Amino acid sequence: MQLFNVLVRLVTAVSVVSAAAITQVSNYGGSTTSKAQMWVYVPDTVKSDALVVVLHSCQSTAQSYSRNSKIPWISGSDKGGYISVWPSSPNSGTCWDVSSKASLSHNGGGDSNAIANMITYALEKYKLNATRVFVTGGSSGAMMSNVLAATYPEMISAVSLYSGVAAGCFVGGGVDQWNNACANGQSTGTPAKWGDTARAMYPSYNGTRPKMQIWHGSADTTLAPQNYQEELKQWTNVFGVSMTATAEKKDTPDKGYTMSDYGPMVQGIYAQGVGHSVPSHLAASEAWFDLP
Ligand SMILES: *[C@@H]1O[C@H](CO)[C@@H](O)[C@H](O)[C@H]1NC(C)=O
Ligand SMILES: *[C@@H]1O[C@H](CO)[C@@H](O)[C@H](O)[C@H]1NC(C)=O
Repeated sequence: MQLFNVLVRLVTAVSVVSAAAITQVSNYGGSTTSKAQMWVYVPDTVKSDALVVVLHSCQSTAQSYSRNSKIPWISGSDKGGYISVWPSSPNSGTCWDVSSKASLSHNGGGDSNAIANMITYALEKYKLNATRVFVTGGSSGAMMSNVLAATYPEMISAVSLYSGVAAGCFVGGGVDQWNNACANGQSTGTPAKWGDTARAMYPSYNGTRPKMQIWHGSADTTLAPQNYQEELKQWTNVFGVSMTATAEKKDTPDKGYTMSDYGPMVQGIYAQGVGHSVPSHLAASEAWFDLP
């Protein structure tokens, strides 16, 4: 009997480790028109009070993104002992809504609002530290990362986004619209114009804002590399710093990547010869987040 119990426990332990699956939270609260789903990954040993939000690309879901070997945030959660939230898009084609007025506004009731509600739920439920909320995402998830930084600056400490466009660049007539001009790199503006676009998403806000780490590939044919420049214009303007790098490291963190700092709050990483989208670099993103 004793041995049997030990065996049962061993088998259970092994299956828990190998499952490593995200689970859905069906009622995360708040009221929005967005039907975005919340999924969460709680590592076996939680040893961090941080929260990482991982936003998937188009034609993906929280479940498939969490199993994608180029998106190593499940192993990051396991090693760092932090909880991660994996929102799942409700829109057809599963892009995030980064075009409607609702999603481009603080408490506007769109997808950005739903993701903010998931953060609120996770902070409360798991007793996490509200000053250690980090957001990452690729492609459409990177676009939404920029939108969240503009619409919910008070909730997020740092963002690391891969291959996106500036907040507001995909603006359109309705929910989840594709924007060719932006995707093709034709929606350009001055730093002031992009800064104003971000500030207009939460006009009364005057508090601290998340530090921004922005990755893009020079061979991106889905979201033209010009979008990297427009993102840097946006956030350097928001932080009131110049577009002239204060530090630059070649071949960092990989050969052909150049890491440029624009003061302490904005960092750009341009990947020569890399297409859409730049794969997640867990160590560099975690370092930006000051994790684990
Ligand atoms: C939350 O995190 C901040 C930054 O690391 C830290 O200074 C603070 O003590 C933490 N709060 C709690 C309640 O642990
Ligand atoms: C920031 O906003 C708050 C709340 O609206 C206000 O009380 C405060 O005076 C503002 N601070 C600055 C520096 O504008």
